[in-house]
Amino acid sequence: MRIAWAITGAGHLLKESVEVIEKLSSSHEITILLSSAGEEVLKMYGLYNRLVAITGTRYRELISESTQKYSYPITGRFSLGKYDLLVVSPATANTVSKIVYGISDNLVTNAVSQSGKGVVSVAIVPVDINPGPVDTILPSKLELNKCIKCDRCDGAISCPNNAITPYEEIDLLKCVGCGICADACQYGAINPGKVVTIYMRDIDIGNTQKLNDFEGLTVYENPEDIDFS
Ligand SMILES: Cc1cc2nc3c(=O)[nH]c(=O)nc-3n(C[C@H](O)[C@H](O)[C@H](O)COP(=O)(O)O)c2cc1C
Repeated sequence: MRIAWAITGAGHLLKESVEVIEKLSSSHEITILLSSAGEEVLKMYGLYNRLVAITGTRYRELISESTQKYSYPITGRFSLGKYDLLVVSPATANTVSKIVYGISDNLVTNAVSQSGKGVVSVAIVPVDINPGPVDTILPSKLELNKCIKCDRCDGAISCPNNAITPYEEIDLLKCVGCGICADACQYGAINPGKVVTIYMRDIDIGNTQKLNDFEGLTVYENPEDIDFS
C-alpha cells in the first residue's frame, strides 16, 4: 500500500501515531506530511528523528510545511490518486475545524481536500473526540516547586540546545525532547513527561462530529484502530 500520513500539532496520540508509522513502514510506502505545528511538537516530544530514520527515498519522504510554497503542488499527488490512503493522525482541533468548513490553507488541509477530488480515502484521528476530561502528556517541563535554585543548574548546563532558562522555563521551540536535562537534575525539578488532565471544548467535539458527514472519510479514536488491509 502507498500511504500518506499527515501529522498535525497535537501532543495527544502523537507517540502512538509515530509507533504505528514505524510498524507499517517495513511493508508499506509511507509519505509523511507535517503541518508547521506538527513538526514543532514532534521535536518537543523527541519523536522527529524517528521519522527521519524511516524516510529518505521517493514516496518514503518527510515533507514539511516549510518546504512548500503557497499552492502546495505536492498535494497534486492526491488529486492524481497516487496514494491508496491519507491518514491524518493526530488531528488537532484546529485542523478538524478547517476540514469541516472546507478550508485548504496549509499542507495538511490541502492534502485532505485534494484527496476528496482524487477519490483517495481519508482516515482521521481527531484528538478532540469525546466530551469531558482526557489525560495527556506534556513535553519536558520545569517543576518549580521542586527547584532549589542551585548556583549551578545542572539541567540547564546539560541541555545541548541551550533551551533552559534556570529557575524559569524551558523554551520548547529549542527543546528536542532528549530528556538529558531530567537525568541531570538530581532534585527531579525537570519532568520529561508530566501527565495533565484537559477538558474537551463543545465546539471542538461538535466539529469532530461533522466529520461523519464527509464521504470517503472515516473517523478513528486511535491510530492503532485504522484498517490498513
Ligand atoms: C506541546 C503542545 C501540545 C499540543 N497538543 C495539542 C493537542 O493535543 N490538541 C490540539 O488540538 N492542539 C494541541 N496543541 C496546539 C496546536 O499545536 C495548535 O493549535 C496549532 O496551531 C495547530 O496547528 P495545525 O492544526 O496546523 O497542526 C499543542 C501545542 C503544544 C505546544
